Amino acid sequence: MKAAFVTDVEKVEVKEIEKPVITDTEVLIKAKTVGVCGSDLHLFRGTHPFRHAPAILGHEIAGEVVEVGSRVTKFKPGDRVTVEPQVGCGHCEMCEKGYISLCPGKKVPGTPKWIGAFAEYFNAEEDIVYKLEDKTSYEMGTLAEPLAVAVHTINHAETKSGSLVILGAGTIGQLVLAVAKQRGFGPIIVTDTAPFNREFALAHGADAAFDPLTEDVPAKVKELTGGRGADLVIVAAGADNILDQACQCLHKCGEMGIVAMITKEIPFYCYAIVFNEIKVYGAMCYEPKDFKEAIDMINGDLDLSDYVTQEMDGIEKTQEGLDILSQKKENVVKVLIKIS
Ligand SMILES: NC(=O)c1ccc[n+]([C@@H]2O[C@H](COP(=O)([O-])OP(=O)(O)OC[C@H]3O[C@@H](n4cnc5c(N)ncnc54)[C@H](O)[C@@H]3O)[C@@H](O)[C@H]2O)c1
Ligand SMILES: [Zn+2]
Ligand SMILES: [Zn+2]
Repeated sequence: MKAAFVTDVEKVEVKEIEKPVITDTEVLIKAKTVGVCGSDLHLFRGTHPFRHAPAILGHEIAGEVVEVGSRVTKFKPGDRVTVEPQVGCGHCEMCEKGYISLCPGKKVPGTPKWIGAFAEYFNAEEDIVYKLEDKTSYEMGTLAEPLAVAVHTINHAETKSGSLVILGAGTIGQLVLAVAKQRGFGPIIVTDTAPFNREFALAHGADAAFDPLTEDVPAKVKELTGGRGADLVIVAAGADNILDQACQCLHKCGEMGIVAMITKEIPFYCYAIVFNEIKVYGAMCYEPKDFKEAIDMINGDLDLSDYVTQEMDGIEKTQEGLDILSQKKENVVKVLIKIS
């Protein structure tokens, strides 16, 4: 089968490899659509702290089951599915608490233990495979994974209502907006350097959207919150000043959630945290319960079809898809590669 390898910094080559051989408890999925994720860009650009080329990227997959292991009970060939792309060791303290994404021995796609999703076939344990309703497209199935990140980011906050600022309106920021809107947060204020992303956020429920390069974001946030500042700020972009900006947007006792993977050191005036008793949390992927919530949303009423701004035909387009997201060559929220 064909698989798209990142072979060097920002370089993708499609190669022939063996199809994955499934175990008794796995299913084999013929890939239909695979999403390009902001988190794929770290390895693609050669800036990932510990993962490097060569690797097959991709972890946002929807497709059709073509083969099932002998002990698989929930799936049969022909089922339309998506996958929660993480498997915990099952016996560490984090796995016992249900925090699979924090398991030190977790298995994720694109590593020596598990193929990445930019390939014609993908194997997965049946426990992490989810059925798509007939009305749910493969495209929406692919969006379940980034939506689960957004669900977890909001679920993990102690703040359950009030004013929200989202710094960065790429895929993750836009999906955080969609989830927060459903939960009744408001006003919701968004920043992004790209005009298209600000307009997209405004069209999808944001009350205001600013360019952080030309506007004084904390001042604008204060103005829109009656001088008070926000209850919750989500950091979904990785600029050098973003943590200071987040702090300055917050009300006393406010909360900052960091979902952006900022893999370099950035300056940060931490006294603001102490002085205003700000709470800070990180959000890493999702717990299985967040993923199930995301699946229910896409199998239910949430329509995210216009979040797919580019759908490119054929695995050979993986290079172009990664380039578009990496270089923001076009207006982009989510790039999908249609594998078959
Ligand atoms: N924690 C997790 O589990 C998880 C999962 C997926 C992605 N991520 C991370 O979240 C971040 C966002 O991911 P994404 O897929 O949305 O990426 P993305 O590239 O689609 O979005 C980033 C957005 O930030 C905007 N931006 C750039 N500089 C900015 C600034 N100074 N202020 C505001 N916005 C700015 C860009 O225009 C872009 O729209 C990345 O760091 C990614 O690695 C984390
Ligand atoms: Zn992703
Ligand atoms: Zn574990």
